[in-house]
Amino acid sequence: MSNENRILVTYQSQSGNTKKVAKAIYEAISEPKEIKPIQEAPSLKEYDLIFMGFPVHGSGPNPKARTYLENNTKGKQIALFITHAAPEDAPEMPESIQKFCDAANEANIIDVFHCQGQLSSIVKTVIRFAPDPQIREWAKKDNSKGQPDASRLEKAAFFAKRVLEKQNYPVQGSE
Ligand SMILES: Cc1cc2nc3c(=O)[nH]c(=O)nc-3n(C[C@H](O)[C@H](O)[C@H](O)COP(=O)(O)O)c2cc1C
Repeated sequence: MSNENRILVTYQSQSGNTKKVAKAIYEAISEPKEIKPIQEAPSLKEYDLIFMGFPVHGSGPNPKARTYLENNTKGKQIALFITHAAPEDAPEMPESIQKFCDAANEANIIDVFHCQGQLSSIVKTVIRFAPDPQIREWAKKDNSKGQPDASRLEKAAFFAKRVLEKQNYPVQGSE
């Protein structure tokens, strides 16, 4: 079997939000494709284009995500997708997203998509009692319930098509 033009969608997801976005991206791709959680992802050498998704943990990638990005993306064409509980336009978001890009600074990052993903009820309960008052305040303000919703998943599919177009893949229904 030829590996030509294969596309991988791979993701890290604890509570399922980033996985939902990964699926929306995967379904928007009509080229030969695969979808795998990061811990099961095969060598990236085989792929021309890799969509990689992560949740924001502590204002950036968690150590596993950071190590993965640092060690596996050199010279690769990648598109990042990221979910977080804060609203998309939260002032801290650009800095949080930048940390993922910095960890993949030897890759060619084609584009980045990010959207809100519901804060799991366990995490919400834990941070309501956090010693840091700012974190407690953050839990009170949380408005991420039900995210990523259908409109965000649609945006994720649109993002996938945009990336494919940038990479000169034929994209259906984009004229
Ligand atoms: C340990 C931990 C730390 C988190 N830190 C942040 C954060 O700094 N900023 C934020 O917006 N969301 C934060 N979140 C929320 C997640 O990024 C968000 O709910 C995400 O959609 C989870 O994705 P998943 O369901 O794929 O695991 C955190 C969640 C966990 C579990």
